[in-house]
Amino acid sequence: MSSLTTEQLRARIAHLPRVSLAHLPTPLEEAPRFSRQLKGPRVWIKRDDCTGLYFGGNKTRHNEFLLADALERKADVLVWGAGVQSNNCRQTAAACNKLGLDCVLYLSRAAHNDDVQGNLLLDHLMGAEIHIIDEPLGPLLDEALLKASAELAQAGRRPYVWDRVPGRPLAAVSYALCLAEMLEQFQEKDIHPTAIYAAAAGATGAGLVLGKAILGWHGKIKLLCPILWPWDIAADLAEVANDAAKLLELPHRVTSRDVDVRTDFIGPGYGQITPAGSEAIKLIARSEGILLDPVYTAKAMAGFIHDVRHGMYKSDEIVVFMHTGGTPAVFAYRDELLGKSH
Ligand SMILES: Cc1ncc(COP(=O)(O)O)c(C=O)c1O
Repeated sequence: MSSLTTEQLRARIAHLPRVSLAHLPTPLEEAPRFSRQLKGPRVWIKRDDCTGLYFGGNKTRHNEFLLADALERKADVLVWGAGVQSNNCRQTAAACNKLGLDCVLYLSRAAHNDDVQGNLLLDHLMGAEIHIIDEPLGPLLDEALLKASAELAQAGRRPYVWDRVPGRPLAAVSYALCLAEMLEQFQEKDIHPTAIYAAAAGATGAGLVLGKAILGWHGKIKLLCPILWPWDIAADLAEVANDAAKLLELPHRVTSRDVDVRTDFIGPGYGQITPAGSEAIKLIARSEGILLDPVYTAKAMAGFIHDVRHGMYKSDEIVVFMHTGGTPAVFAYRDELLGKSH
């Protein structure tokens, strides 16, 4: 199957409704002191923590397509949900405010305590309607969202709900586009990375994998999943990628064999900080002044550091680490990060 150029992919994506929310392109910057400390390959960081909206992060790219879809459908309220320290919900509430939509959040305390700190504090400041619930992330929380949305519809509102079936392929498009953005930056900087590492549990990883297939990029996309979903993660990401390709009316398809996703850096569970993640946070903060988050990017970086220490990369190779954001969560993890027990 023939590959598309980045321009051709942009032109194809331009057919989808999109609102402008993110500061793009995000910077791609080298981290030489970090590389030297690791005695590893050259490392470049893709700064998607700098997408701009209310502390930024990957979901702001997603929301350019999701909220445009909501507006097309004449929605007046968004119903979103995830963990109490959700970066997704924080960025979505901010996007709603910017677009004049109401936002109702269902936040699960199963992953973290519900102290009003970090992302949860930011949700409050934005005036989102917040419901703290006990359902864990996954099918039970999804059901709660659909129920809440149905109730709002009955009351005469026009809700747009976070629904993983239509939502994730649309969100994945934004990360196929992000890969195009990166390939253009590689060309500008005349660098030839052999791998991109990213924390991914859904649309972000699926979009990168699809982008690789569409654009015919030869490097590896290495995904580290922060949560043990109750389903086959590689097969699920392949399905999301293929549904995104269908949305774009492109013939490119991937299988679960094309999805290099690992779960070995989750530690005791989603949202629980690990010693390797804590080390990763300190290493890059102290060598480059870059802040990672404890739930996603620290664990993905821990996976990358592990691979470097196991000799996976030569010193003249280039590896890109995708920083997907999540930084406000550090404030909610103060005690864990400082090594205090509860
Ligand atoms: C900081 C951060 N990185 C990565 C992810 C994973 O994104 P996705 O589920 O789209 O793969 C999230 C999702 O919440 C996130 O907040």
